[in-house]
Amino acid sequence: MGTSTERVRERLHRAERPVVLTGAGISAESGVPTFRGNDGLWRNHRAEELATPEAFRRDPKLVWEFYDWRRRLLSEVRPNRAHYALVRIEEEKRHFSIITQNVDGLHSLAGSRDVVELHGNIWRIRCTGCGREEEDRNVPLKEIPPRCGCGGLLRPGVVWFGEMLPAGAINRAYELVEATDFMLVIGTSGVVQPAASFATMAKQRSAFVAEINPERTPISPFMDEVINGKAGDMLPQIV
Ligand code: OAD
Repeated sequence: MGTSTERVRERLHRAERPVVLTGAGISAESGVPTFRGNDGLWRNHRAEELATPEAFRRDPKLVWEFYDWRRRLLSEVRPNRAHYALVRIEEEKRHFSIITQNVDGLHSLAGSRDVVELHGNIWRIRCTGCGREEEDRNVPLKEIPPRCGCGGLLRPGVVWFGEMLPAGAINRAYELVEATDFMLVIGTSGVVQPAASFATMAKQRSAFVAEINPERTPISPFMDEVINGKAGDMLPQIV
C-alpha cells in the first residue's frame, strides 16, 4: 500500500480540483514564529491577546509595535521549499488554489497566483476613519501608531479575533471547499474557525483529505491520511 506520503502523492496526481489550506506552520521553516508554538510570545504577550479590536482600542501603540515587529521580521524572510512546492502544483494543474490563514504574503512571493487570504495581509493598511486601504511596505513604520491623511487612525489590514472575514475571501473559500476532490491541510493547529472545519466539509462531500503537521491536531482524526513531519521536508516528496 506504500507510505502515507506515497498515497497522498498518488491522490494528488489524480485530483482534478486540489485545494491546499495553510496555516502558520508552512512559514515556520522560513523563520516566522507560529502563533501557538513556544515562539509565539512577543514581549510576554500572546499574539492572540494583541490581535483583537479590543486591544487596538485600548492601546493602538502597543498593537502597532507588535505588527511593526512582525512586518520587520517578515521583510527579512524568504519563502521556503514548501511554498515553492505549491507553486509547482499550480503549474501542473488546471485548477489549483491555496486558502491561507497567513497574512505574511509568502505564497505570493514564492509565485503562487491563486491564493485566498482569509485573514488579510500584513502589508495592507486601512484607515479606521475614512476606510481607505492601501499597501504599505515601510519597515519600520514612519510613525506609530500611523495616521491617515484624513487624520484617522490606521490599522493593519488583517482580520482580528471576533471580526468578520472579508466577504470575497470567505465566499471564494467555501466555493473551493464545495468543489474540491482533494484537500491538503498544512501547518495549522485546526482550532480557528472557519478554516478548521474546511477539511470536514470537504470530506463530507467525498473529497480525499490529508494533513501535513509534525504534531497531531484536533482535525487529525478526520483525515484520510496524516503525514507526520515538517512541510518543507514532506511537500517536496509529494509534488
Ligand atoms: P498555529 O500557531 O495555531 O499553528 C501552527 C501549526 O503549525 C501547529 O499545528 C504546528 O504543529 C504546525 N507546524 C509547526 N511547524 C511546522 C512545519 N515546519 N511544518 C508544518 N507544520 C508545522 O497557527 P494557525 O493554525 O495558522 O489568526 O493559526 C490560525 C490563526 O490563529 C492565525 O491565522 C491567526 C492566529 O491567531 C488571526 O490572527 C486572526
